[in-house]
Amino acid sequence: MDAQQMEAPVVSQPETNPSLWERLKASTRSAHEGLDSRIMQGKPFAGRENYGRFLLVQHDFHAIVSGLYNDPALAERLLPDLAERDRLALLKQDIRDLGLDVPGEASSVRPADALESIGWLYVAEGSNLGAAFLLKAAAELGLNETFGARHLAGAPEGRGRHWKTFTAALDALGLSPDEEQRIVSGANAAFNTVRSFVEARFFEGARAA
Ligand code: HEM
Repeated sequence: MDAQQMEAPVVSQPETNPSLWERLKASTRSAHEGLDSRIMQGKPFAGRENYGRFLLVQHDFHAIVSGLYNDPALAERLLPDLAERDRLALLKQDIRDLGLDVPGEASSVRPADALESIGWLYVAEGSNLGAAFLLKAAAELGLNETFGARHLAGAPEGRGRHWKTFTAALDALGLSPDEEQRIVSGANAAFNTVRSFVEARFFEGARAA
């Protein structure tokens, strides 16, 4: 066999086109890592007092996204079971379990439109995927799915399956690149907003707003 025969046939590789979910994950990776490490600097599992601060951060965030989970137009566009994914009521119960008062809303920041809202929902849903790790840490404080860490529980169908349904719905939206970019912007805005809540609750001594 001569060199020419051995040469691999030239196959034109199609451009791999990342799905919306893959783009969201890649475009928010550094925001997630920054948030994750900043939360850990606050030592949320060093004791129940610190964990309480973490709950307040989560509440600040979920008080915003709860409105999106319960928006019928978003449910129609994205997922019929959207409202059932809202974890605000569980969070309020977690806060009460710890003997704390449920605060008022910390911020009037809201996504500008439906596309940005979908980016915010991506951040809220994804946070439940990472919550498996947080639930294990909360167990060290004597907290679990029925006391103090209810909002960190996985869905009955399993975290992975619950998440797959959501990302499949994202990928089925069939949007233009510009529209997808607005979802990415919404997701980054959500991460930045949560980051500001972490600063306020852990590092600036803020109480309720
Ligand atoms: C100390 C805090 C946190 C840790 C240690 C953490 C950890 C993780 C881990 C390990 C995953 C990947 C899970 C998997 O693939 O099975 C993940 C995913 C994710 N987390 Fe976090 N997380 C933290 C906080 C947060 C917060 C506060 C938010 C948002 C408010 C968030 C948003 C997300 C999102 C959107 C994903 C999904 C990424 C994707 O696959 O598209 N995380 N997290």
